[in-house]
Amino acid sequence: MTESDILVEVRDLKVHFPIKRGLILDRVVGHVKAVDGVDLSIPRGKTYGLVGESGCGKSTLGRALLQLTPPTGGEVRFDGVELTTLAAGKLRTMRRRMQMIFQDPMSSLDPRQNVESILTEGLQTHGIGTDRDDRRRIIGETLDAVGLPRWALSRYPHEFSGGQRQRIGIARALVLGPELIVADEPVSALDVSIQAQVVNLLDELQDNLGLTYLVIAHDLAVVKHISDVVGVMYLGALVEEAPSDRLYSEPLHPYTRALMSAVPVPDPDVEDRRERILLAGDLPSPANPPSGCRFHTRCPWAQPTRCADERPALREIGGSRVACHFAERIASGELRPHKVSAQIVRPEGEGEDPAVVSAPTEPGSYV
Ligand SMILES: Nc1ncnc2c1ncn2[C@@H]1O[C@H](COP(=O)(O)OP(=O)(O)OP(=O)(O)O)[C@@H](O)[C@H]1O
Ligand code: SF4
Ligand SMILES: [Mg+2]
Repeated sequence: MTESDILVEVRDLKVHFPIKRGLILDRVVGHVKAVDGVDLSIPRGKTYGLVGESGCGKSTLGRALLQLTPPTGGEVRFDGVELTTLAAGKLRTMRRRMQMIFQDPMSSLDPRQNVESILTEGLQTHGIGTDRDDRRRIIGETLDAVGLPRWALSRYPHEFSGGQRQRIGIARALVLGPELIVADEPVSALDVSIQAQVVNLLDELQDNLGLTYLVIAHDLAVVKHISDVVGVMYLGALVEEAPSDRLYSEPLHPYTRALMSAVPVPDPDVEDRRERILLAGDLPSPANPPSGCRFHTRCPWAQPTRCADERPALREIGGSRVACHFAERIASGELRPHKVSAQIVRPEGEGEDPAVVSAPTEPGSYV
């Protein structure tokens, strides 16, 4: 793949939010490392699916990629242009080419604006369309593309169903003619019956318009169908990345295996026999991530050597990228899973030091 085939290239991206204390919040007592060293590339016209538990940093990564949240460090190149150092004016121009779709269209659409006004706003901001008629033509074509009728233009967001509202959200992004769309949990707020329609629409738009997607989801099933490549995130970093089919048929990282084992299989015989891994404890605090491999406090395969001391790099293993010191020996069955003690995570804001406290509680288990 040549450089020009890559639309988005992210290198060592970091977003650390300061934790402030004191009466006027003037004392920085630590940082939430929401994104802490992510490398990924998205080829043109392809879909990168990003999955992981709540709080692992998926949305922050998506926002930092679009420079909606300023990164603390690292690089984001879009179509060869470095965004992190781009002047504000040039960044605004670039924004037209990179749009975002949100989880909850009701809260991301202004209830006081009708659909025409919602769609016109972006066109005017970016100076798209020669006059009113031209803008109406662009808006009409966009409504057709997302499957909304023309009468929708005079209606307000609350007059639509959840699925239709998400179509308005997609239209708002699409009307600007973007090349990249970051879709943050685009179907999580929708009924299951509607989810497939919206996923199919995104797929169809990609085929017709050559769009590139970063699709964020906690539901592995959603990402599987739409993604060419899937990245699995844990505590601010990627732990595994692989072509979609490969990730689902042969997950290599223990965390990916645990996530996969929670997805039901339609065949009842397979469902009865397959491996299930129940993760012990909650996600540790990103303000004070575990040393070494960040997953070692919950990993059923953690070893006494290296896991707690040495952060594993993301390395190539047979077409996947995996951040585990022992991935090959786990895959071959040489290393067997064991029981893991749960962790108590002190709620954020309690005490000065938002540390993770390890405590012997009920053991976690694997089946
Ligand atoms: N503006 C902010 N200031 C401080 N901390 C933040 C901010 N935004 C996010 N965080 C923290 O960063 C971490 C990652 O949050 P993020 O919203 O990116 O996770 P997520 O993977 O998208 O979760 P979810 O699946 O629940 O949407 C969390 O611990 C969150 O509390
Ligand atoms: S490096 Fe160790 S703790 Fe981390 S995933 Fe691999 S086996 Fe588990
Ligand atoms: Mg999120």
